[in-house]
Formats: sequence, structure tokens, C-alpha cells
Amino acid sequence: QKPGLELAVVSVPSYACQRHTPLLHHNITLTDALSILAENAELGENEGRGVAFRRAAALLKSLPQEVRGAEQLRGLPCLGEHSLRVIKEVLEDGVSLEVETTTHSEQFKAMKALTGIFGVGAKTADRWFREGIHTPSDLQRSGHTLNRAQRAGLQYYDELNLPVTKSEAVAIGQIVERAVHAVLPGAEITLIGGFRRGKQTGHDVDFLITHPDEGREEGLMPKVVSWLEAQGFLLYQKTTGNSYLESKEGPARPASNMDRFERCFSIFRLNPHTHSDSPHPLPQTLVVVAVRVDLVVSPYSQFAFALLGWTGSKLFERELRRWAVHEKAMTLSSHALYDRKRYLRASSEEEIFAHLGLEYIPPCDRNA
Ligand code: CTP
Ligand code: MN
Ligand code: MN
Ligand code: MN
Repeated sequence: QKPGLELAVVSVPSYACQRHTPLLHHNITLTDALSILAENAELGENEGRGVAFRRAAALLKSLPQEVRGAEQLRGLPCLGEHSLRVIKEVLEDGVSLEVETTTHSEQFKAMKALTGIFGVGAKTADRWFREGIHTPSDLQRSGHTLNRAQRAGLQYYDELNLPVTKSEAVAIGQIVERAVHAVLPGAEITLIGGFRRGKQTGHDVDFLITHPDEGREEGLMPKVVSWLEAQGFLLYQKTTGNSYLESKEGPARPASNMDRFERCFSIFRLNPHTHSDSPHPLPQTLVVVAVRVDLVVSPYSQFAFALLGWTGSKLFERELRRWAVHEKAMTLSSHALYDRKRYLRASSEEEIFAHLGLEYIPPCDRNA
């Protein structure tokens, strides 16, 4: 018997939030191929298609061993016709023609380069692409009027497209902690996003801030930003105040998946001397280490929901909400969980999983 032939008889649950998905898994070649197609669909604003490829990739990431032949996939959920076709191609030929064509297409390359500019989404990138703008340099030369975020994105393009290392994340965390404690002693700062899931690098660093005395956290962000600016740590920032909706029982169910916390999307300037494995060697005096940093403030009573909602991965979050709605008739957001009209309180992620009737999945296994 070939190793792993018994894969299909292992029953694999169909929602990613029912599975353990570690960072390191056994099917990188397959998931890389599917991720390219997912990315291409997302850049073409075909969300449904993107999700289908992401779900298929996530299923493969959760398997306990390498898939060697298509027959091992029989009976597994989440694998649509298109994804299966791509998987079979890669298993048989080592590559998929569709993936190769996509990777080398002028449009895909341009859309990736343009959306790689902070502040530029798929719609804007597509408009520019159709005007013949394919690279950040083309954009620079075009004389287009850019907003503040896009100007910063273009200015720090190379820096922001280098992966942020774990040690840079730690250094940023120390700065954020000093800033927050200078303006609100007793506040609690938690590393969220990909680094909380155990990633060694990221495209940014994400932090959640709260205070045990409910209400003390209100209006915190502008004060933190002032402190950071005075110290010269910010190259760019955009702060948005909270816009909570309250219902009789608790935080209201938001109309969209976008949460309503006070937040700051920023670009930090990090001194290259403050961390050891900076990918920027000489000359240090000329180097600006620019790092994207997201700061979110939540009231203490919503902290567990905010923590769960901001730890990711994006697909894991999407699957949690889909599970809640379709399997439990509940609604989950980064603010609250509702069982129809009833607000379900939680002070830990474990309690939220329990309310949802799910086994607890730790952050390191949410890499769907
Ligand atoms: N998130 C969110 N609302 C936003 C942006 C992000 O709720 N406006 C959540 C995402 O759902 C995700 C988490 O914040 O769960 C982190 O998002 P992001 O930083 O984009 O991704 P990471 O998983 O941290 O991966 P990376 O290393 O690329 O930053
Ligand atoms: Mn992140
Ligand atoms: Mn960097
Ligand atoms: Mn982020």
C-alpha cells in the first residue's frame, strides 16, 4: 500500500473553523497553485471564485500528509470541479497550465504590483492598468493625483514590500507599549493577526488595545498617535474613531463585516539598530525601515470577540461567520455573538467557540 492511500477514509469536516490548520503543512505545491488562482480571482473582483479556491487550499493545508494521487481525494469536502482539475494537473505534470499562464500574464503581474502599493485596491489598479499603467514607476510618471495613503504607499513601496520579521514585530510592540502606557497606564496590548498565529514574517504588524476599566479606552488612539508622532515614529497614519451601534442587550449586529472599533492604519519608522536581523544592511543612516502597523482599540467587554476577529486568518474568520449563520442560526462579528435576538457574552475565545458548538482551535491552528 502506498503511504497515505487511506487519506480519503479519514473524515475531514467541511468548515475550516472545525479543523486544525497549522502554518507548516504537507501540500505546499498544491496550495501555492490554488492560491495564485484565488489571488487572480480576487484581483478580478470575482470574490466567489476566490473563496472557492481559498477553501480548497485550506482543506489541503489541514491534511495530515502529502497528497500523492487524485484517488486520495475522494470523499473530501471543499474541492470543487475547477480546483480538483488544477490539483490533478499539478499531481500529474508538476505544474498547471492555467496557473503558469496566470503567473506570466501581464495583467496579473501589473495588478499585483499596483495593489502592492499601500492604499491601492483592485478597482483603482484595474482602472490604471487599462490606461497602460503597469508598475509603480509608470504610476509615478503618470502624474495621477494620489490620495495621502497612496502617496505614502508609493514613497515607501520597496520597504513595505519586504516581509516584516518577527524581531521587527517585537521592536514595534515595545514602542506601541511605551506609547500606550504613557497615555493610559494599565492598558493591555496584544499582538494579533498573523504573528499571533505563529507566522515568522508578515505584511504588517497588528495590535489590539484594551483597558480593564470599561470606558477608559475611549478616545485613546489620537493620544497614542500624538505621542508616537512627537517621538518621530510615524511616517503615515490614518485614525478613525469608533462608531458603535448599541442595542438594548449589547453591541449591535453590524450591517457588514467591517467592524466599528477605533483604529489606526499606519506606517512606522523603525530604527534599524533596534533589532538584530533587519534585512537592511548599509548604509544605516540612509535607510528608512518602514513597517505597516494596524492598531485597534476595543472596550474590555468586547475584547474576546475583537481578539478572535482580528487573529485571522481571513478565511478562518469567514468560515466562523458562515458556520455561525448556517449551522447555528447565530451572527458573529468582532463585537458580539448573537443567538437570534439574544446576546451571548464571552470573556475568552474558548467561550466563543463553546457558544458556537465548536472545538477550541488555538491561534497556531487557524492558518486556513
Ligand atoms: N481585519 C479586519 N478588518 C480589517 C482588516 C483586517 O477585521 N479592516 C482582520 C482580518 O480578518 C484578519 C486580521 O485582521 O483576521 C489580520 O489581517 P491582516 O493584517 O490583513 O492579515 P494577517 O493575517 O495578519 O496576515 P499578514 O501577515 O499578511 O499581515
Ligand atoms: Mn497582519
Ligand atoms: Mn522592513
Ligand atoms: Mn493588518
